[in-house]
Amino acid sequence: MSALRGHELYRFFHVGDDETPALRGVDVQLEAGKMVALVGPSGSGKSTLLACLAGLDEPDGGHVDVMGERLSRRPEATRARLRARHIGMLMQSGNLFDHLTVSSNIALQIELSGKGEQGSLLQRLGIGEHGDAMPSQLSGGEAARAGLAVALAADPDILICDEPTAEVDADTEHRILEFLDERRRAGCAILVATHSASLAQCADRILRIKDGRIVHD
Ligand SMILES: Nc1ncnc2c1ncn2[C@@H]1O[C@H](COP(=O)(O)OP(=O)(O)OP(=O)(O)O)[C@@H](O)[C@H]1O
Ligand SMILES: [Mg+2]
Repeated sequence: MSALRGHELYRFFHVGDDETPALRGVDVQLEAGKMVALVGPSGSGKSTLLACLAGLDEPDGGHVDVMGERLSRRPEATRARLRARHIGMLMQSGNLFDHLTVSSNIALQIELSGKGEQGSLLQRLGIGEHGDAMPSQLSGGEAARAGLAVALAADPDILICDEPTAEVDADTEHRILEFLDERRRAGCAILVATHSASLAQCADRILRIKDGRIVHD
């Protein structure tokens, strides 16, 4: 059984009379203990795919299964429950509640999931001194790492990351890579959308997307 499976996913966006086919029949499977890098040009559909796989957005066609259970086209409460139980998600932005400190954001995630522990996540991501900070006080790279701490707080089976190293320096990128690798070895199924060649190199498999389709070499 795949940890996460997207089958024949389609997603269309409509703005006025224009239709953007963001996903056009995408298949993807994630296995426990493997990291897949999703690479492709800006606008190719990476964030759309990740949102559909995480159950934050609904595909217009196809379906998503998480740990053998149907995630797509279920009531929002069901999707939220499956997401909380199995999936950690780092979005391109907006991962933290603005009115809560970084530590409270993590505590809330743990409470919603009913598992996990605050532990030393922030220290290990190099932002141990920012636990009491409000999200608005963080730099872009610090906010990305705080978002990653929230995504990992409940020790998810599946981790979905949208450009986790977009705003960080080389040292921090290395630290995040080590961290993802550790999670992979602990059995987490990881999907990372990235423009970073060094991150993609660390993956077990690279999935290339262009104009909403997976391209095979
Ligand atoms: N909410 C939306 N409404 C309308 N169009 C959208 C919406 N979200 C995405 N799109 C369009 O869908 C396509 C895919 O966008 P997406 O954000 O998935 O790209 P991406 O590969 O993540 O790009 P980037 O590397 O810049 O993050 C783009 O053409 C984008 O303009
Ligand atoms: Mg994107």
